Amino acid sequence: MKDVTVTDSILYVGCDDKDIDLFESQYHVPNGVSYNSYVILDDKIAVMDTTDPRVTKEWLANVEKVLEGRTPDYLVINHMEPDHAGNIQKIAEKYPDMKLVSNPKVFSMLPQFFDFDLTGRTVEVKEGDTLSLGKHTLQFFLAPMVHWPEAMVTYEQSEKVLFSADGFGKFGALDAKEEWADEARRYFINIVGKYGAQVQALLKKAATLDIAIICPLHGPILKENLGYYIGKYLTWSSYEPEEKGIVVACASIHGNTRRAMQRFVEILKEKGEKNVVFFDLARDDMAEAISCAYRYDRLVVASATYDANLFPCMEDFLYHLKIKNFQNRKVAIVENGSWAPMAGKLMKAYFEGMKNIELLDPLVTIKSTANEKNFEELCTLADTLLA
Ligand code: FEO
Repeated sequence: MKDVTVTDSILYVGCDDKDIDLFESQYHVPNGVSYNSYVILDDKIAVMDTTDPRVTKEWLANVEKVLEGRTPDYLVINHMEPDHAGNIQKIAEKYPDMKLVSNPKVFSMLPQFFDFDLTGRTVEVKEGDTLSLGKHTLQFFLAPMVHWPEAMVTYEQSEKVLFSADGFGKFGALDAKEEWADEARRYFINIVGKYGAQVQALLKKAATLDIAIICPLHGPILKENLGYYIGKYLTWSSYEPEEKGIVVACASIHGNTRRAMQRFVEILKEKGEKNVVFFDLARDDMAEAISCAYRYDRLVVASATYDANLFPCMEDFLYHLKIKNFQNRKVAIVENGSWAPMAGKLMKAYFEGMKNIELLDPLVTIKSTANEKNFEELCTLADTLLA
């Protein structure tokens, strides 16, 4: 078990998963992911969430080790998604006297995932309810759509610990050496990004609590400088850019659009833009491209026309931006088409359906390979982006 200290009486029992190919079957996690779970030792013992079924054996052994022969009184379920709830039936069967503590939505969802008798085993809680373990008191706050409707967070009053469910989580195993913000942003935007308003509502509730430690369900336990992490969440959930910069996202079939856009990146830099990030959407990590589009204040999309539609990786990119509520940005469009360019019109239609997007002129049309006139237009577009 990883040696992770929360406090003397709140113990980490989670597991790293470094072998998973794709988290949620879509996200590359080169440094793995952690499924966090905790045990609170007191007169009564509470287990805080379970883990993914991929680590059942290791997790049950971790729990058993810290219990030192005792039996848990409660399993608190903050979130029903299988990466955390996957072992509820396993632990419920192992400790038949243990009660399950959660809100009614969780208990209505439980039988959809599991097949065991809940009679006499549930403790139903609602907003603000408390549960005493002895010296520790748990208080429950509903967090609907952060990131499922049944989600809640639990605040432990005596040690001021917030068990924040998916909130403040990140990709990466606990020993991953990487910036918290980069993988937390990629996690947040792609997984919870659609639910900015609900995250803001939860942050308002959290602001009324005196929080010393945040225990998320993924990634490191946060003990210092909590204002930094909360500040990032306030920005991300408001859909405001985090910093000034330009993302150039390109969908190229034979490389002509890509070469034109790589030259465009140079033009932007020559004109003085310091923060330019280029993505080849056919090859680069899609979740990172989406995350970066949220990070910076300006976005340039460039796509080849394909069967009178968008090249599929651009369609995928724009589809993700749309369902994740992308908004409040300046956007420039470059299209390519050898005989009937359509990509510009289709990309424009995507952005017209989003909130507060400023489309910049000119929309540049390349026919097969960028010519001198195209580069003049790209220079004009660069000036508009930098104005
Ligand atoms: Fe990490 Fe929504 O589960």
